[in-house]
Amino acid sequence: MIIALDGPAASGKGTLGKRIAAHYGFHCLDTGLLYRAVTLALLDRGLRLHDMWAAVALARALDPNRLEDLDLRRADVGEGASVVAKIPEVRAALLEYQRAFAARSPGAVLDGRDIATVVCPTADVKIFVTATPEARAKRRFLEYQARGLEATEADVLALIKARDARDSGRANAPLRKADDAILLDTTELDIDAAFDVAVGLIKRKIGR
Ligand code: CDP
Repeated sequence: MIIALDGPAASGKGTLGKRIAAHYGFHCLDTGLLYRAVTLALLDRGLRLHDMWAAVALARALDPNRLEDLDLRRADVGEGASVVAKIPEVRAALLEYQRAFAARSPGAVLDGRDIATVVCPTADVKIFVTATPEARAKRRFLEYQARGLEATEADVLALIKARDARDSGRANAPLRKADDAILLDTTELDIDAAFDVAVGLIKRKIGR
């Protein structure tokens, strides 16, 4: 059983993915962490984000069991990840692990940008989680504030819009809603409400 959640930055898909996985007793993979891990490894070595050979080597050497590093959550790592994620060879290097993860029993929830379109095109349930850029910027701003990071809401909104453009505009595996994905707009929903709607959608698909 595979549940694919795709959507733009700060749409709530990560939190939603964890809640859905816990609810059904499924495995959960935040695929953004894979791209973030490659990015952090480049940054830590003082390498350029466009260094294709280094990025591919680091992607191939990635230990997916070590995605707990709090530095992966850094804002600069998220921004960098959307640059590194444009490299087709990096995406290819990370594909097999994601597909093997998706096949885990009794089921898996994967969240990202291209799960329903590229990684698991035959997923049992496909949900595209979105919200207006303003609502997403507000969430990320509050998240940064809670972590004691300095930023204005306007700065965060500009970054979100730039990231949306990069993720949707790239040639390889761009962020887009799969034709057969269900749209879940969380602009007006808090996480509990979004979870309830998502479980309702899943129930309609898989009967539980
Ligand atoms: O948490 P947030 O939404 O800020 O970002 P993320 O999900 O951790 O992803 C960071 C970046 O990795 C995204 O902006 C994408 O460019 C890239 N990514 C991707 O290309 N494909 C995925 N399946 C997941 C993330």
